[in-house]
Amino acid sequence: MTCVSPSILSADFGCLGRDIEMINRSEAEMVHIDVMDGVFVPNISIGFPVIDAVRSLTSKILDVHLMIVQPQNYVSRVRDCGAEIMNVHVEACTHLHRTIQQIKAAGMKAAVTLNPATPVVMVEDVIADVDMVLLMSVNPGFGGQSFIPVTLKKTRQLRELIAQSGSSARIEIDGGVNAETGQALVDAGADILVAGNYVFKAPDPLAAISTLHNLTPSK
Ligand code: DX5
Ligand code: ZN
Repeated sequence: MTCVSPSILSADFGCLGRDIEMINRSEAEMVHIDVMDGVFVPNISIGFPVIDAVRSLTSKILDVHLMIVQPQNYVSRVRDCGAEIMNVHVEACTHLHRTIQQIKAAGMKAAVTLNPATPVVMVEDVIADVDMVLLMSVNPGFGGQSFIPVTLKKTRQLRELIAQSGSSARIEIDGGVNAETGQALVDAGADILVAGNYVFKAPDPLAAISTLHNLTPSK
C-alpha cells in the first residue's frame, strides 16, 4: 500500500467542500495543500483562511507545502490551522536546522522539500531530524506538469541515505504523478505520492486515488 496525498491545487475551488468530501470518502491518508507567494515560485495560490476551511471539513492529515520565502515566520500560524505536517523548501531556509526544530517544537511533523535541481546531499546533515523529505518531481508553482525523470535516481539516493543514517524519515514525491510514474516511484522507494491532476481531472477521482493507494513495489 502507498500513502496518497491528493493536491487540492487541482480541485474546483468553487466546490471545494464537495472535493474535500470526495477525499474524505477515499483511501487517501492526507490532503496536500500548496501555499504559494508569487516570490519563491511564479504563482500565487491559497493561504491560511483556506487551510482553516479545509481543516473544518476533514479529519485527514493536512500536508501543508509552503512554496514561500521565509517560511520560518509562519510556523505558529500553520500550527494554528491544525496542520499535522509542515513542508519547507531547503532553498527557502537559510537556517534550515533551526526551522526544523521550530516546526517540531510547535507539535508538527517537520518535512523538508527539494526542488528538482537541488541534490539529495543537501538534506544529509538534517536527515536524522526530519519526519519526511519531499522531492519535487516538477518545478514548483503549477499543477499538471510533466514528471522529471531524475527524481527516480534521487528517490533511490534518498532511500539509501535514510537506511544508512537510521532515520525514520518518509519519502514523499510531488509533481506529475500518475499510475505509471507512481509505480516507478514506489519501485524506487517512495512512501507517499502527491497527486493533483491525476486525481481531480480523472473521470473517477476515487478510483484514481485507489489506483495509487494499491501500488506496491514490483520487485
Ligand atoms: C506544484 C505543487 C503540486 C501540484 C502537483 O507546485 O507543489 O503539489 O499540485 O500537481 P500535479 O500532480 O498535477 O503535477
Ligand atoms: Zn505540493
